Amino acid sequence: MIPYARQSIDQADIDAVVAVLQSDWLTQGPTIERFEQAMAARCEAGHGVAVCNATAALHIACLAAGLGPGDLLWTTPNTFLASANCGRYCGADVDFVDIDPHTWNMDARALADKLEAAERMGRLPKVVVAVAFSGQSCDMRAMAQLAQRYGFVLIEDAAHAVGAYYAGRPVGCGEFAAMTIFSFHPVKIITSAEGGMVMTNNPQLANRLRRLRSHGMTRDPAQMTEPSQSFWYYQQIELGFNYRITDLQAALGLSQLDKLDGFLARRQQLAARYDRLLADLPVTLPQAQDQAQSSWHLYVVRLQSNRIRRSRAAVFEALREAGVGVNVHYIPVHLQPYYRDLGFAAGDFPEAERYYAEAISLPMFPALDDKQQEYVVEQLRQLVLEHVES
Ligand SMILES: Cc1ncc(COP(=O)(O)O)c(C=O)c1O
Repeated sequence: MIPYARQSIDQADIDAVVAVLQSDWLTQGPTIERFEQAMAARCEAGHGVAVCNATAALHIACLAAGLGPGDLLWTTPNTFLASANCGRYCGADVDFVDIDPHTWNMDARALADKLEAAERMGRLPKVVVAVAFSGQSCDMRAMAQLAQRYGFVLIEDAAHAVGAYYAGRPVGCGEFAAMTIFSFHPVKIITSAEGGMVMTNNPQLANRLRRLRSHGMTRDPAQMTEPSQSFWYYQQIELGFNYRITDLQAALGLSQLDKLDGFLARRQQLAARYDRLLADLPVTLPQAQDQAQSSWHLYVVRLQSNRIRRSRAAVFEALREAGVGVNVHYIPVHLQPYYRDLGFAAGDFPEAERYYAEAISLPMFPALDDKQQEYVVEQLRQLVLEHVES
């Protein structure tokens, strides 16, 4: 089976992890800080706060943004559960903004309309989580303007978008979002097995994120409510978590970061090849967002259901039978039973639902070779052309 995604691990990665295993620090050691600094330098960000996964990163980013019970968080329905669940962890209510039918990201115009209506009702969101779906940023310039106008905190969920660019600058630089979060899960652009990071330019936010990642405690006398008693002394200032990443994971992440440009170049090449090889099929290809340069975490196509007689499920299953490990990103979050129980229903976000009915993620990872990619395309070609409406 050709998987839809797969990590690329080499000897340098293995050596980096083994070196940490042989060192004094398996966790809470110096490699974490090196990883944070290297990511911050790469992203042109002031601070990076590494945590055990991107879900934890989203949770503490929301807390640092001041999100709490009675507040509102908005995100896109076309995302992984974590982009919405982070609001629920904080006791906030969650709502969604429908997607742009071309980029499949949250639609900035729909966001503007919904904000206008929310202002009239006196129910504006405190946080908006803009997801860089498949590695491509949203219309962040427009969203940042809306954040200014309506006073919400814009968090970019860039779990897919390590190494991507927007408006000529690295995603994570903080020009548009107050905080950007990354994931280092093995299917993502670089991996630390499990791992995540929050990038920000705001030192107060960075301090708060560091405290929340480790029990809400501090050893910094400047943050204490009374003078430090001695070297052993720490204080718990607020309720935090153990969301720490290990030095073993950070070593893998750091070693992977050395190879980021090579990974991105191959992903971009594969995307361009898919664009060319699929151009004559009744499938809709990914469309570029103005100013965005994707990291190509995913390569998604939409089967044009008005031209192909086979259902998406039938094409999906036939591809898997042919050894092509396709996947679907994403089941609209508002249709999950948990969110339905909160009052959402089919029809609430029609663009995301139409998209979901047609979407298939084709294999996309740096080690996918040209022959494998041609095989994927050939299988898809046969399946959709056999059943095309004349
Ligand atoms: C858009 C998005 N946000 C957040 C996450 C959560 O990442 P993690 O698995 O590192 O917690 C994912 C994971 O797939 C994701 O795709």
